[in-house]
Amino acid sequence: MKKITKAVFPVAGMGSRFLPATKATAKEMLPVVDKPLIQYAVEEAVAAGITDMIFITGRNKRAIEDHFDKAYELEATLEAQGKKELLRIVQEVVPKNINCIYIRQAEPLGLGHAVLCAQPIVQEEPFAVILADDLIDGDTAVMKQMVDVFARHQCSVLGVQDVPRSHTKQYGIVSATNLEPNIEKVHAIVEKPKPEEAPSTLAVVGRYILTPRIFKHLKEIQPGAGGEIQLTDGIAALMHYESFLAYRFDGMRYDCGSKLGYLKAQVAFGLKHEEIRSEFAAYLKELA
Ligand code: G1P
Repeated sequence: MKKITKAVFPVAGMGSRFLPATKATAKEMLPVVDKPLIQYAVEEAVAAGITDMIFITGRNKRAIEDHFDKAYELEATLEAQGKKELLRIVQEVVPKNINCIYIRQAEPLGLGHAVLCAQPIVQEEPFAVILADDLIDGDTAVMKQMVDVFARHQCSVLGVQDVPRSHTKQYGIVSATNLEPNIEKVHAIVEKPKPEEAPSTLAVVGRYILTPRIFKHLKEIQPGAGGEIQLTDGIAALMHYESFLAYRFDGMRYDCGSKLGYLKAQVAFGLKHEEIRSEFAAYLKELA
């Protein structure tokens, strides 16, 4: 019985949809209320029992490493000023017993290539992949839900949700048949199909549990959509040898890779935030 202890966070992307905000810093450091996207992603992995966080980084991404490191001067200053609550918040960014590992992806060759960069650390174990710009708010962390599905079925699991047919060009789309409530058996997957060519409207949204055999296929495949080594194409190749499940997770997903989705996340998380929720709700009412 295999356990998932490692998560891969591909964070080398340019974040061009958020320029100029992302000119000198990582898009994964954009905050939703007061927490960067990447911290939500890491917290989700921690909630799933994952202990090794593997970040696939690139240029302009140093802020991510600093974020998950000890901040001596800041902590000493907060301590001296007696700001205990802020000190706690800063120290809890990196939970105890968690390893953060950084690998540089020197060239932007695609999501599949980014995941392949994690092979020296992941080696022969099943592992999770979390795309931080898909922010998913669930009562139970979505990766925890997926780890539970993996524990029962011991095969790869893709986090999916239905999207409007007109949006299929933004996603990996699966064709699948229902196996049990919220779980489908996947027969095929295709990256960013046109609406008229999409086999269904069931889209993969930034959460994967994969077996290590994926690396072999990621090494062999040719560049696909957009001229990039696509994770979806690696998964399609692996599907000839191993089973894949698609899991309709329980939670609300915000596409923080788009401006509109990011703003929706700010509103939703603002309305849940202890410090500001009532004033923020009153302000939104005023606007309506
Ligand atoms: C990537 C994947 C795609 C997936 C999507 C989820 O696309 O290639 O299969 O559906 O993430 O957000 P990207 O958003 O990087 O273009």
